[in-house]
Amino acid sequence: MATQFTNESLSSLTADWLVLGLAESAPLSASITELDQTLGGLLSRLIESEDFTGKAGTTTTLLGITEIKTPRIILAGLGTAESISLASLEKTMKTAARSISSKPDTSIVVALPEVEKSSLTTEQFAKVTSASMIVGAVGQDLYRKETARFPFQQITIAGSGDAAECQQAVDRGTILGESINLAREMVNRHAGDIFPVSFADRVVEVAKSTGLEAEILDENQLKQEKMGSMLAVAQGSDQPARLAILKYQGADASAPTLALVGKGVTFDSGGLSLKPSDGMKTMKCDMGGAAAVLGAMNAIAQLKLPVNVIGYMGLVENMVNGSSYKLGDVLTARNGKTIEVLNTDAEGRLVLADVLSFAVDRGAANIIDLATLTGACVVALGEEVTGVFANNAEWSQVVQDAAQASGEDVWELPMFPQFADQLKSDVADLKNVGTRWGGAITAAKFLENFVSETPWVHLDIAGPAFASANAPHREGGGTGCMVKTLVEVAAQYGSTK
Ligand code: BES
Ligand code: MN
Ligand code: ZN
Repeated sequence: MATQFTNESLSSLTADWLVLGLAESAPLSASITELDQTLGGLLSRLIESEDFTGKAGTTTTLLGITEIKTPRIILAGLGTAESISLASLEKTMKTAARSISSKPDTSIVVALPEVEKSSLTTEQFAKVTSASMIVGAVGQDLYRKETARFPFQQITIAGSGDAAECQQAVDRGTILGESINLAREMVNRHAGDIFPVSFADRVVEVAKSTGLEAEILDENQLKQEKMGSMLAVAQGSDQPARLAILKYQGADASAPTLALVGKGVTFDSGGLSLKPSDGMKTMKCDMGGAAAVLGAMNAIAQLKLPVNVIGYMGLVENMVNGSSYKLGDVLTARNGKTIEVLNTDAEGRLVLADVLSFAVDRGAANIIDLATLTGACVVALGEEVTGVFANNAEWSQVVQDAAQASGEDVWELPMFPQFADQLKSDVADLKNVGTRWGGAITAAKFLENFVSETPWVHLDIAGPAFASANAPHREGGGTGCMVKTLVEVAAQYGSTK
């Protein structure tokens, strides 16, 4: 669905709802003042009486409006002009979208917030607003008979900015919103729907619809590639492993390639080191890294960014059967390093080990991997912050800057060499687990063995990939985290390399 930008006045537009984002204690913009007059001063009266304050996160709905062509209005508080950030704007807009998306075939007009003294640009307002309307209107209804939330049938964003520039920003937001929803859908589908083969099928579908080039390696090809680490994890499942690759060439063949690598464990039972029930409940989300890569590639292709990017999705199921890999097994990874398995639940790093070395050999100039890798990262940073780990400070900064420019919270953890000591094995080059302490870092130190000297950033998204409950501003379940950041990295990469 295309979202339209228009310069037409708010009172002349027809739709089911009008969404007005208003700042706290700030003068009304010219277009809102005009609307207020048409409404007989209703808005200024609500503000005067403090029935609507503009405080961030608050909403007020007005029904049965007759003076204009939108019978329902939702006022959404943006907070004070100085406090508006990308993240707070997104929260507000998603809160509004969530409150008005409970009926099918709803059309909306959104007034583009025009806030004096805000540090955000008109383009940023337009992009975040359109993305948020698309993400906020989609819930977790995949398997419900009665749908609770419906995507808007028509979205019109109205403002006074340059129409061509605003339309372009709105289009970018639409692509981002849809790509985030794609990642969310992949995570939200249960493991009976999304397993390595069906995930790979979806990758091929995305390639067809976007013009990306897809390549799927099956279990025999993975054997030929000597991916003994990744294949060991898949061994205990009836579902064969796949490596799905998406290639996007938006620049000269001689330009450097950005590689995005995603952990795609479509279900993590823990294997023989079986998880307790509570820890297993949400483990359909363990392909959140691969889902973020798929979402980002979908967006990068549609945005036609001038950059070369390859997405690698390592797809396996970590299960228990008579062939499961065992504690004490010594695996030989693709790059020749041997790994003693001392916990089959530390499987993500075994998958990434082989996919990372494959990406290096295919000629990656820079790598970002994404993985729901460790509970320890959630202990360290909480459920909403992504852990950053890197072997190269400059590249790490590029990724962190992109996260900031996307309104996604990340925090870097140290990669001191002593953490690697925990991974020394008596019988192999490495073991796959360290002690309890600093578990997110030892996992990253493990991965470092498989990227050679390539500038590499590892993003541990175990916390933010999956939300345990609904909140006013977001649905529980898959979040699509890091899709925006990856797209921003690609955009920067294209403009500097
Ligand atoms: N997929 C899990 C990590 C995870 C935990 C993701 C919670 C999302 C939410 C990973 O494969 C795992 O089981 N990690 C172990 C590592 C340990 C055995 C060293 C963990 O975190 O307990
Ligand atoms: Mn695990
Ligand atoms: Zn896992």
